[in-house]
Amino acid sequence: MKDLKGKTAFITGGSTGIGFGMATVFARAGMNVAITDIRDEQLVIAEKELKTITDNVITINVDSTDSGAMENAADELEKSFGPLHVLCNNAGIPGGAKILETDDARWRLVFDVNFYGPINGINAFLPRMLEHGEEGHIVNTSSFSGIHGHGHQSAYGSSKFAVVGMSEFLRNDLADTNIDVSVLCPHVADTPIIANLKKRVTEDVLKMINEMAVPAETVGSQVMNAILTNEFYVFCDGTHTRGMLETRCNDMIAAMDRQFPKT
Ligand SMILES: NC(=O)c1ccc[n+]([C@@H]2O[C@H](COP(=O)([O-])OP(=O)(O)OC[C@H]3O[C@@H](n4cnc5c(N)ncnc54)[C@H](O)[C@@H]3O)[C@@H](O)[C@H]2O)c1
Repeated sequence: MKDLKGKTAFITGGSTGIGFGMATVFARAGMNVAITDIRDEQLVIAEKELKTITDNVITINVDSTDSGAMENAADELEKSFGPLHVLCNNAGIPGGAKILETDDARWRLVFDVNFYGPINGINAFLPRMLEHGEEGHIVNTSSFSGIHGHGHQSAYGSSKFAVVGMSEFLRNDLADTNIDVSVLCPHVADTPIIANLKKRVTEDVLKMINEMAVPAETVGSQVMNAILTNEFYVFCDGTHTRGMLETRCNDMIAAMDRQFPKT
């Protein structure tokens, strides 16, 4: 997309953190913005703040794991703003622990929110986007934990790998359309999720997190840039994560070279 002014965005989990960062940046760019969340009180606070930028804001309490509720939200959005142009499937929950320490209920809940939430968003909105025919963009929020398996993040990291994979297939599906796709892969962004984590870690880890953390609004700007320049993988820092990415790619190539040496 080349021009966002007057276009419409729908952001799940948009009342705080990265979603709210996107909403703020989009509102400043002159977009109509719809944010969803499952917390009414947080939606009220977010709406008040966004209304200092633009009147074209609506909030909808919708659980993105509920496909029927997402369809209703799509109807509500159209009534307020007309066709949707930018869909941000962003709502997500943590679920980091070793596999044997993660119970079945957590696996299912994490996949329900982090993976099926985006699927529900795509099923509710993409047919309408294809039908109205105007250019559009879908941004799925994954994580750097969906690019590189570090630490013990079982359910969370696996769900985020699934989001990266699904986004790559979605990009293939939409190659012949005017709807582009990005997958957002933040490492550490300064949001309530990270604020909670900070309470539980040692001094050393706290220092590391503070060094790595990118403000949520910066992530919002990085997403807007990706939409305007049609960038698929959206990384949020190129310092702390570069080595991990290089290691993963090099490991794969090295394994292939060992098994099938170049002649
Ligand atoms: N903060 C980071 O460092 C970081 C890093 C990598 C990826 N992410 C991802 O970014 C996204 C946003 O995270 P954040 O850090 O801004 O967290 P956040 O907790 O500030 O925001 C997530 C929002 O989603 C809402 N939500 C949770 N379940 C929902 C559901 N079923 N339906 C609708 N809304 C729901 C929450 O109420 C919350 O307001 C998540 O997908 C997260 O996994 C964050």
